[in-house]
Amino acid sequence: MRLAKLIQPKAIVLITAVSILITACADEAAKPDAVAAEKPAAAQVEITAGTFGRLSDMTKVRHFFIGNLLGNLEATIAVAESKTGGVYPPGSVVQLVPTEVMVKHPQGWNAATRDWEFFELDVSADGSTIRNRGFVDVVNKFGGNCLDCHIKARKEWDLICELDHGCDPIPISRKQIAEIQDSDPRCT
Ligand code: HEC
Repeated sequence: MRLAKLIQPKAIVLITAVSILITACADEAAKPDAVAAEKPAAAQVEITAGTFGRLSDMTKVRHFFIGNLLGNLEATIAVAESKTGGVYPPGSVVQLVPTEVMVKHPQGWNAATRDWEFFELDVSADGSTIRNRGFVDVVNKFGGNCLDCHIKARKEWDLICELDHGCDPIPISRKQIAEIQDSDPRCT
């Protein structure tokens, strides 16, 4: 009886440690390609927290990540890689860091944002939750409004800032951005 009492707490610690190890991204390699689900071109872009996954499951172009929720990834890549700009196709998803997303809706969603919707996410090993979406009051962690800054990109860049498209700068270097990208905590 005494011995059992002594062993019990240790056993609990061990079990907890093992279960933490098991839940920590055990299944990374088996991630299905669910982000780019095929839908008809005219479909509305339905976006929930489950829409968003790890940056490393998206397509990397230079220093940022892209996808397309309507199965039109090639068209999104073509605009992202264009040296002269262009209009991102509906369904395009663009991310620089795990917690901030731009999604392109079909033409006519909102002319003032050129059909872009902005998202601020909370991310953890359990996945993503949407903290804020839209454009009116979606701000980054430095308090800047996404649209107010991104709208300054010259017309041909379709609200994509990079370093020289006309937006105000953000106070983090490309090196810091790469570190944030590498530390995406999401498992799926
Ligand atoms: C003060 C201006 C400013 C604000 C506010 C801002 N951004 Fe940006 N954003 C930038 C700049 C500049 C870059 C390019 C950084 C680089 O390439 O190193 C960028 C990059 C991005 C990119 C990658 C594509 C691109 O435009 O280069 C996405 C996606 C993005 N931001 C989303 C957001 C979202 C979502 C918010 C709000 C939650 C936001 N940004 C707020 C200036 C801003």
